Amino acid sequence: MFDSGVGGLSVLRAIRRQLPSASLRYVADSAHAPYGEKSVDFIRDRAERIAAHLVGQGATVIVVACNTATAVAIDELRRRWPACSIVGVEPGVRPAVAASRNRHVGVMATDATLRSERFRALVARESDGCTMHLQACSGLAAAIEQRDLKDPVLADLVRRYASALREAGVDAVALGCTHYTFVSAAIEQSLGAGIRIIDTASAVAAQVARVCQAKEGAGAEPGCRLETTGDPLRLAQFAARWLDFDLEIAAAPVSL
Ligand code: DGL
Repeated sequence: MFDSGVGGLSVLRAIRRQLPSASLRYVADSAHAPYGEKSVDFIRDRAERIAAHLVGQGATVIVVACNTATAVAIDELRRRWPACSIVGVEPGVRPAVAASRNRHVGVMATDATLRSERFRALVARESDGCTMHLQACSGLAAAIEQRDLKDPVLADLVRRYASALREAGVDAVALGCTHYTFVSAAIEQSLGAGIRIIDTASAVAAQVARVCQAKEGAGAEPGCRLETTGDPLRLAQFAARWLDFDLEIAAAPVSL
C-alpha cells in the first residue's frame, strides 16, 4: 500500500481490522507530499516508483491508499503490472448521493483529484441528478501531514472548507482524501448537525479482503511494516496514536 504520507494509514487500519493476519507493507511518501498540488507527471512517477518497490518485495496486491494517486495513476499502474491486483480509493460519491435527502452533495478532495478525468467521470456516472459541490481543500493534507492535529492553522482550514459546504446547503459530504479521516471529527463539528460524512476506508478494505481471498495461498508472513521517505519518527508518532497493533517502522531506501 502507499500514500503521499500518513493519510493512507486510515485505509491500512481498516484493512488490518478485516485481514488481521495479512502481510502488510506500507510506503508513506512524506518527502514528496502533498501530491494534490503536484503535476500529473510527478504523481505518476512517484506512484510507479513506489509500486515497483512494493512489487520487488513480493506484493501481489497493491492498494493505492490515496485518492489523488488513484485519480491520475491507477490506469498506468494496472497497465504496467497486469499480474497484480491494484485496488484504488475514490471519493464515495455514490454513497453520499444515496445518503442525501436534499440532493445537495459535497466532496472534499485535493485539487488534483477534482481536476482529474477519472473523478469527473465518477461524478457523471454516480451523481444521479444531485447538485454536486466540489470543495478543493488546498493545504489541508499538507497541514495534517506536518502539524499537530490540534494546531490552530489546521483547525482554521477545516472550518473554512467545511463552512463553505455548509453554506452551500449540502446534507452529505464525501471525504475524498485519505488524510481527512484523521480530522473527520473536526469536519463533522464544523459542518454541524444533520450533515452525513462518507468515508470509504471500510469499503476499500472489504474490496481488498475479497481480492486477497481470491489470491489465497500467497503464504507471506503476517505482520505490518511501514516505510517512509520522510521522517520515521514523525510516522512512528502518528502510527502510535492511530494504530493499535504492532508494526515495524523504517526509512524507505534512499533510491526511492
Ligand atoms: N491522501 C491523499 C489523497 O487521498 C493525498 C493528499 C495529498 O498528498 O495531497 O488524496
